[in-house]
Amino acid sequence: MTTALKLTDLSKTFPVGKRLFGPAKGMVRAVQPLSLSVEEGETLGIVGESGCGKSTLARMLVGLLPPSTGTIEINGAPLDAADPALFGRKIQYVFQDPISSLNPRKTIRQIMEAPLKHLHGMSAAERDARIREIFAAVNLREEFLDRYPHEFSGGQAQRIGIARALAADARILILDEPVSALDVSVQAQVLNLLADLKQKFGLTYLFISHDLAVVEAVSDRVAVLYFGAVVEVGPAEQIFAQPKHPYTKLLADSAPVVGRALVAPEGRETELPDPLNPPPGCAFSARCPYASAECRQAPPPLEQQSDGVWAACYHPLSETA
Ligand SMILES: Nc1ncnc2c1ncn2[C@@H]1O[C@H](COP(=O)(O)OP(=O)(O)OP(=O)(O)O)[C@@H](O)[C@H]1O
Ligand code: SF4
Ligand SMILES: [Mg+2]
Repeated sequence: MTTALKLTDLSKTFPVGKRLFGPAKGMVRAVQPLSLSVEEGETLGIVGESGCGKSTLARMLVGLLPPSTGTIEINGAPLDAADPALFGRKIQYVFQDPISSLNPRKTIRQIMEAPLKHLHGMSAAERDARIREIFAAVNLREEFLDRYPHEFSGGQAQRIGIARALAADARILILDEPVSALDVSVQAQVLNLLADLKQKFGLTYLFISHDLAVVEAVSDRVAVLYFGAVVEVGPAEQIFAQPKHPYTKLLADSAPVVGRALVAPEGRETELPDPLNPPPGCAFSARCPYASAECRQAPPPLEQQSDGVWAACYHPLSETA
């Protein structure tokens, strides 16, 4: 197998409360140093609650946000944050909100042509042929090309968003909540389309969602994020059935239902820790029923638990837990 995407110690820290003159009030570490690999043709799901760093990670991967530390490699070659066109040719982003992610003043043809012109320098005839090919692949009629984004339904607009990402000829797509804004019936159509396109174009997906059931259904492997860090990663069919990390178990126990958002149970200590004042040890310790004194001292490292399963926990759960 070939590694399509390799992240090494990738992190992002934002200054917050910055005044016009003077220093920022504090720093928020949205993504902790994170290392992950995605194999060619694989779908890696990323799940986590709101604010755990999913979009920050996605934005770094497509060159929209410079990482604070770490490297991104595609097929063994590092991406240079100073060369956005290189990102564009290799890796593309599909946004959550399809309509507002398309420029309202441009026709769909103009939107589709931009990457072909800027990233590939194609002639008008080549662009036309490529756009027709991709529009057919995403089951959209060619007459739509001369319309504007507001003239489409959410499902159609997301097909256009996917078509735009494919036009750049990138083989890796970062799908950031690609179906969360759509009705459940339309979600299924878009998910089926994504599966077909993956086969047809030999794509690799990073599929981000807070919807556990969707992630479990579409992914080969799943990485669970908590407070900007990977707490568990493993095969999709195993990770929620036999969780090793207490946080993964908490998610799994909230009985996934397609289309239902990932929400922590009500009660005290259900919030993520304060990003301006993170705890010294495990970020999950305030919510964890298994927390010990050791857990509150230093963050647990991500360690292999069994074949292909990694978890960051001092007291990983056994299969009978
Ligand atoms: N530009 C920014 N400046 C300061 N803090 C930021 C910035 N962007 C994100 N953050 C913070 O980083 C953390 C992660 O945010 P991010 O948007 O990546 O989360 P998310 O997992 O995508 O959440 P959601 O599911 O709500 O989309 C949050 O604490 C957020 O407030
Ligand atoms: S390290 Fe400790 S507090 Fe953190 S999840 Fe594991 S048992 Fe719970
Ligand atoms: Mg997000």
